[in-house]
Amino acid sequence: MKGALDDFKAMLTRNEPFTGLAKAVAFLVIFALGAIAGLWVAAGTRQSEDGIVPDVVFQRGGGGVCCRPDPDPDFADFVAPTRLMHDMTDEELFWRATLVPASDRYPFERVPKVAFMFLAGRGVLPLAPLWERFFRGGPEDHFSIYVHAPPGVAINVSEDSPFYGRQIPSQVGSEAYVQVVSSICDHLSDAYYLALLIYNHGFLQKTSWGSVSLMDAEKRLLANALLDFSNERFVLLSESCIPVHNLSTVYDYLVGSHHSFVEAYYKDTKGCRKRYSRRMAPDITLREWRKGSQWFELSRDVATSILTDTRYYPLFRRHCRPSCYPDEHYVQTYVSLRHGARNSNRTVTHVDWSTGGAHPVAYGARDATPELIRSIRTSREPCAYNSRPTTTCYLFARKFAADALAPLLNMSSTVMHY
Ligand SMILES: *[C@@H]1O[C@H](CO)[C@@H](O)[C@H](O)[C@H]1NC(C)=O
Ligand SMILES: *[C@@H]1O[C@H](CO)[C@@H](O)[C@H](O)[C@H]1NC(C)=O
Ligand SMILES: *[C@@H]1O[C@H](CO)[C@@H](O)[C@H](O)[C@H]1NC(C)=O
Ligand SMILES: *[C@@H]1O[C@H](CO)[C@@H](O)[C@H](O)[C@H]1NC(C)=O
Repeated sequence: MKGALDDFKAMLTRNEPFTGLAKAVAFLVIFALGAIAGLWVAAGTRQSEDGIVPDVVFQRGGGGVCCRPDPDPDFADFVAPTRLMHDMTDEELFWRATLVPASDRYPFERVPKVAFMFLAGRGVLPLAPLWERFFRGGPEDHFSIYVHAPPGVAINVSEDSPFYGRQIPSQVGSEAYVQVVSSICDHLSDAYYLALLIYNHGFLQKTSWGSVSLMDAEKRLLANALLDFSNERFVLLSESCIPVHNLSTVYDYLVGSHHSFVEAYYKDTKGCRKRYSRRMAPDITLREWRKGSQWFELSRDVATSILTDTRYYPLFRRHCRPSCYPDEHYVQTYVSLRHGARNSNRTVTHVDWSTGGAHPVAYGARDATPELIRSIRTSREPCAYNSRPTTTCYLFARKFAADALAPLLNMSSTVMHY
């Protein structure tokens, strides 16, 4: 059996046609998976990390009082979930996240918030102490925090940190795989056909095993942040980003802006034009192709629009392959195409590409000087804000190494005013 399994694995990796033995093993493997999936579904193990699963949309009122509608036990939690862990699939989450009220009047006091969404690629936030200072300086009801870490990694912060409990669920590979297999098993009784399907389409690699693409992680962050109806602006940040202005300045700047801040440009270069695939036409033409920094800032309606897109995103999944990076093209192209007039086409996150090469300048302890931060806070070249020139072009900056933390903390109040 072990040998046969190895044959099967080798066959999958080598892209060889099925041999007789491999066929039998494929059948067995798929059958076993089907059985597990069946048990999974039947047992109804819907447990989240801490064992309690909130009903996602509306919780049925407790108390068991017959025939009397509940006052509003879960309304507050519906408009702004306090616990970020849930067990929605992406499909359920995106649907729930893109619900838009038809009425523009809210039955609660809605203070627009800025959602700070952190992509913690390695599951750590080395500059968290600086951010904590930044968040503690501003009104608490003006922001919310979301952190995406790789599956299985828990962000380690103390209980009094604004980051505490702000990690969103990341799709765990095996779970996603079981869902995929079980949903397909409903339609195809022929396990052998399923084996062929997996084999021919590289199904395994595409859907699961923690190989969540960056763009999927970004969309999942957006979706979780959209669940809070008060979030009005959505800014994507990395673990190496810092804020160069205080929260009140950042808040006024973003909430008061008529535009989103998605850098979007076109260049006739290898890094831009050459990444376009003609197979994306006619939906996306070369004229519509855009590139830009992945660190975007979006208004609520543009964020919602991105999550409802089923026309362009599949084209990127299919045709924006290796040496083309969806996180540098998808949001940029989509926003330009559908919401171009309401995009500033620039980013609010400063980065220094001046040394050339594939990576921007990384600032260490010796580089993080007050002069550097001041030059980022006040740009030499003005940019447009609500159609007027300003020298406040950047609210955030990257990339800062972990050892830059000490000097940054030292100047946070004197230079950055938080
Ligand atoms: C979490 O952080 C604390 C304090 O920084 C440290 O003592 C602890 O070992 C960390 N835990 C893990 C699991 O990394
Ligand atoms: C940004 O680019 C779009 C075209 O992609 C354009 O329609 C829009 O006016 C530009 N925005 C600004 C503020 O210049
Ligand atoms: C902190 O900043 C002051 C000036 O504001 C400077 O004299 C001092 O050397 C700095 N300390 C560190 C550890 O960077
Ligand atoms: C935020 O920073 C600005 C200067 O950048 C300053 O004028 C303002 O007082 C600061 N706000 C708070 C609440 O500290």
